[in-house]
Amino acid sequence: MYEEKDLSRRKFLKSGILAAGALAVGSSIFNTTKVVEAVETTPTPAPCDSNCEIPSFPYPYAHLDAEKAKLDGYAGYGKSKCSYGAFEAIIGQLGDKVGYPYTMVPTQVLGWGGTGGGGWATLCGALIGAATAINYTMEKKDADKVVSELFGWYCDHSFPEFAPAAGKALEYDGVMEKSVAGSPLCHVSVSNWCDASGLKAESKARSERCARVTADVAAKTVELLNQFHSKTFKAVYKNESVEDCMMCHGKGHSLENTRGLMDCDQCHTNVEPDNLVEHIKRSWDIKD
Ligand code: HEC
Ligand code: HEC
Repeated sequence: MYEEKDLSRRKFLKSGILAAGALAVGSSIFNTTKVVEAVETTPTPAPCDSNCEIPSFPYPYAHLDAEKAKLDGYAGYGKSKCSYGAFEAIIGQLGDKVGYPYTMVPTQVLGWGGTGGGGWATLCGALIGAATAINYTMEKKDADKVVSELFGWYCDHSFPEFAPAAGKALEYDGVMEKSVAGSPLCHVSVSNWCDASGLKAESKARSERCARVTADVAAKTVELLNQFHSKTFKAVYKNESVEDCMMCHGKGHSLENTRGLMDCDQCHTNVEPDNLVEHIKRSWDIKD
């Protein structure tokens, strides 16, 4: 119930610098006590008007429901595929629980990650969406750890586990084969599933499979986020075969000519992890 004049004063006082300036010049502009009063009672600005500033990361977090994330991830896949589905499942729920600034995030931006990025089948799109969502809620150094844990889980886990209620499948209601990707790559994940199921990569069944994988990834991400934000997160993922290779090829070692945590043996099938002596001999022979 303040008057027009007060309103514009409040607007003026929104900036702390201006308020301090006003305090410094004191009663020549307004009475000092009144200024302080006005600052204290300034209503929180509307979440976003034409002057709004999008806050930088991290945004606040609220404990999320993994079961809901599954349903939302699955439904999101139906709308705009895996990357959007996983992102929307997390950011949408944070929007419901925390509100602004999550309500300002245009989740469609993750649409590009479907099919592992523009049809290239690189990083699994569900991981692209989930990793992006993780980055909204914590500092980058922490996000890297949680993302790494998620990717490690993805490599080793047999999925899809999620199954929609009877008669509610998006594309395919038949038997759903599970498979282990062994890799965070869409290419490997999909093709290993095709191998396990005997079904085609462009079939409705594969699309259904990826919708369910999106649900699983969204739920796992929520589990990791809840752990992180309640201080119970522990990075446990380890790949000893990668560590073996990195003793020479990795950071700080003699060759330092590669990087990463993807399973080396999966692609470099000519290198036998149990026979590195042979590998080194052969590599040196090649050089001679
Ligand atoms: C003890 C050190 C050492 C370890 C451990 C090691 N490598 Fe190597 N690797 C070498 C050397 C030395 C070369 C030759 C480098 C050159 O020619 O510049 C090489 C070359 C390679 C090459 C290129 C030549 C080729 O054979 O295709 C690949 C790929 C490779 N290593 C993969 C691996 C993988 C995968 C592992 C783990 C299973 C591994 N390395 C473990 C020392 C090592
Ligand atoms: C998704 C498949 C894939 C994975 C996983 C992978 N690599 Fe490679 N790597 C490649 C390809 C493809 C090349 C390029 C080979 C070429 O052009 O001859 C390459 C190149 C290399 C080279 C240089 C080869 C050369 O001819 O000198 C090394 C060394 C190497 N990788 C080591 C590793 C190690 C160690 C790991 C595990 C951390 C790893 N790679 C994981 C696919 C992979």
